[in-house]
Amino acid sequence: MSSYKVGVIGGDGIGPDVLAEALKVVDAAGVTLDTTEYELGAKRYIRTGEVLPDSVLEEIRGQDAILLGAIGAAIGSTEVPPGTLERGLLLKLRFALDLYINLRPFTGVPGAPSPDCDFIVIRENTEGTYAGEGGFLRKGTPFEVATQGSVNTRHGVERCARYAFALAETRERKHLTLVHKTNVLTFAGDLWQRTVDEVAPDYPGVSRDYNHVDATCIYLVENPARYDVIVTDNLFGDIITDLAGAIAGGIGYAASANLNPDRTGPSMFEPVHGAAHDIEGQNKANPAAAIRSAALMLDFLGETAAGAAVTAAVNDFINSTPNPTLSTTEIGDAIAERL
Ligand code: IPM
Ligand code: MN
Repeated sequence: MSSYKVGVIGGDGIGPDVLAEALKVVDAAGVTLDTTEYELGAKRYIRTGEVLPDSVLEEIRGQDAILLGAIGAAIGSTEVPPGTLERGLLLKLRFALDLYINLRPFTGVPGAPSPDCDFIVIRENTEGTYAGEGGFLRKGTPFEVATQGSVNTRHGVERCARYAFALAETRERKHLTLVHKTNVLTFAGDLWQRTVDEVAPDYPGVSRDYNHVDATCIYLVENPARYDVIVTDNLFGDIITDLAGAIAGGIGYAASANLNPDRTGPSMFEPVHGAAHDIEGQNKANPAAAIRSAALMLDFLGETAAGAAVTAAVNDFINSTPNPTLSTTEIGDAIAERL
């Protein structure tokens, strides 16, 4: 059995605690990780002023995968200006490592608004409004202007669309929905729609649909069964995956994989939730999302049996313990015991 070099970024708030449980479960699944911890996030920034030094980024490039807990200062913190860690650390990792797919699976848990939902959102992860295009003009004057453009390249959209089609092909329903706002975003939406239309013949087994993003918010609440694989841009994907997490049982269960499918560098695995500073250090956070993210990592590393075993253990725990009142460590133990 090979050992994988995994960079561990616990980050802020509950991040380190949920990652500790994820590592415990990976170990119980019999996979050996050679971990290196990187102290990055609000604490380091406040202490040293550093967000992601180039030397650390270069070290991270040499890992096989990255596990990330959560990044972010407490709401209202005056020590960390908004966007410092988001743009300087999390998005920088996504862009620098070309993690162009953000894969977010949603399977409902008992008691959730949609306990039976089962779909995957493929969110483009390196372009759109996240690319950072824009700026200020005459800032601070009564005539100031702020622009924030959306960058959509044929290359970026096509590789994302192809990934989503190929994924849909492997699933039972083989159904792909493009989510956008083509009725208003007539440039970006047109590029997305044309690209999807043009690559579709390469995936003849996949049926297709299109939904506007606003309508998607209704369908996700009223009839999520219509979705199998959704492909969408960066910002729409950010927003609808919070909603998807809520209908599937809560953001405490939602996992994500930031993938570089070309494997020119490590991919990064993180729960969708944030740092939850309000429950930091209280052993209260649900580590299920982090553990599910670790399962996605195992699968991507080629440890498919171990990944499936972890997912099955998480699901078995969830199904036998709806609304767990257990602590973070107790949940981790209960899942590890099932392996
Ligand atoms: C997410 C988060 C990030 C995003 C933030 C923290 C930058 O909300 O991973 O969904 O907007 O992508
Ligand atoms: Mn988000």
